[in-house]
Amino acid sequence: MTASTETGGVGRHDWERKTTSRTGAGVVDDPYPRFAELRPINGGVHDSSFFAMFGMGDPTSEAWKDAQRFCTLSYAATEHVLRENNLFTNAGIRRMTQHAFGPVSLMGSDDPEHRQFRLLVQPAFGKKAMGMWQSWVKPRLDELIDGFVAKGRADLYFEYCSQFPVFVIAMTLGVARDDLDQFQHWAGLMQIGAAPAAEARAARLEVEDYMRAVIAERRRAPRDDLISLLIESEITEGDQRQRITEEQVLGLVCNLVPAGVGTTFRSLGIVLVTLMQRPELLARLYEDRSLVPAVVDEVLRWNGPVLTSPFRLVAEDTEIAGVKIPKGSIIEPGIAAANRDPAQFENPDAFDPFRPVKPTLSFSYGPHFCVGGQVARMELRAALNALLDRLPNLRFDPDEPEPQLTGLLYRMPTGVPAAWG
Ligand code: HEM
Repeated sequence: MTASTETGGVGRHDWERKTTSRTGAGVVDDPYPRFAELRPINGGVHDSSFFAMFGMGDPTSEAWKDAQRFCTLSYAATEHVLRENNLFTNAGIRRMTQHAFGPVSLMGSDDPEHRQFRLLVQPAFGKKAMGMWQSWVKPRLDELIDGFVAKGRADLYFEYCSQFPVFVIAMTLGVARDDLDQFQHWAGLMQIGAAPAAEARAARLEVEDYMRAVIAERRRAPRDDLISLLIESEITEGDQRQRITEEQVLGLVCNLVPAGVGTTFRSLGIVLVTLMQRPELLARLYEDRSLVPAVVDEVLRWNGPVLTSPFRLVAEDTEIAGVKIPKGSIIEPGIAAANRDPAQFENPDAFDPFRPVKPTLSFSYGPHFCVGGQVARMELRAALNALLDRLPNLRFDPDEPEPQLTGLLYRMPTGVPAAWG
C-alpha cells in the first residue's frame, strides 16, 4: 500500500505522506471539473486561493494573512499575470518561501535583481552543462532498472521515478552517493508549501552546510562538474566583471533542489500511469519512439505536476478581465487550469499527443519561465525510453489496485505498480 489512508498522502515514508497530503494528495483527486465550472465566470479570475476553492487550509497563508486572494483559470488571464511581472511581482513568494529558499531566490526576486540571478545561473543550463546533466542520466536509469528487471514487477513510482531526478541533481551538485537519501529527504521538505516553515528552514540550513563543504572542496580542487561551473560563474556589465558569491551559489542550489526534483519525478509517474491506462498508445510507442517527445509534452499540458506558478504580489491597483485587483493582493497564476482552457486548446480534457502543437504554460511564461525546462524534458524522454528499451509489455500489476492521479498544489500518481514480460 503506498498511499496512507490516515493522512491521505502519497509516499513510502511518513514525512512524504505528510508533506504530500498538506498539498492536496488524497484530498483532491481531480480538480479539473471545478476549474471548468468556474472558468467562464469573471473572465477566469476567481476571488479566492486554490486551496480555499477546495476547502483546504493554505500551507502558505501565514506569510500574507490579511491579503486578498485571487487565482486565474483562463489561459489569457494567466499569461497576462506571468508576463506583467512588474505589476504582478515575485516579492510575495519571497516572504512565503524564504525559510526554504533562503535570502537569495530566483523565484522570490524581481528585476533588476532577478535578471542578475538568471544570468548567473545560465551556465548551469548552457550547452556545456547539458552534457554534464546528461552524463548522469542514462547510467542511473540503467542501474535502477538492473535492480528490479528480473522480478517482473515493481512499483515504478517508488523504485524508478522518485530515485532518478534527485540523483541527477545531487550528483551534478557534487553530493556524495552515500548522502543521497538524506539529500532527497531535505529536497522533499524544501518544496513550496510542503512542510511547516520550521522544518523547511531546518532542511535548507542542512543543505547549505552540506554545500558549503562541497564548495570549499571544489575551490581547492575544481572538477569538470556543475558545481565547479557555478562557482566560476560571472557576469560582465560594461567593463565590470561580477563573480558569483558563495551566498548566491547556495541560494541557487536551494532553488534548484526544490524546483527540479519533485516536479520531474512526479511528471514521470504521471506519464507512466497515463500510458498504462492507454495500452494501445503504449504499444504504438514501443514501435515508434519518435512519439515520445509529444507524449511527454502532452502529459505536462493535460496533467502537469504543478497547479500554479509561484504566487504573485500585486504592486498597483489593477484589473484583469474587468475584475478589480487591489494593490497588496496575492494572485496565483493557475497554469494547470490555463492548460485546459477550451479557448486555447480544442477538446482540452482529452489526452491527445497528436493534437496540433501550441504553446502551453507547463513551464510557465515571462521572465520567470522555468530555467530547467530543457533538462526536465531530456530527463523525462530518457527515462521513458529506457523503460521501453528494457521492459517489454509494460502493464499495471494485476495483483495491485490500479493507481490514480491525485493532489492539488502538486499532482502525482498514488504509485505505478507495474508488471512486464
Ligand atoms: C517537469 C518538470 C518541471 C516543471 C513542470 C517545472 C515548472 C516550473 C514552473 C511552473 C516554474 C515557475 C515559473 C514562474 O515563477 O512563473 C518553474 C520555475 C523554476 N524551475 Fe522548473 N519545472 C520543472 C523542472 C525543473 C528542473 C529539472 C529544474 C532544474 C534542474 C527547474 C528549475 C527551476 C527554477 C530554478 C525555477 C525558478 C525560475 C525563476 O524564478 O526565474 N525546474 N518551473
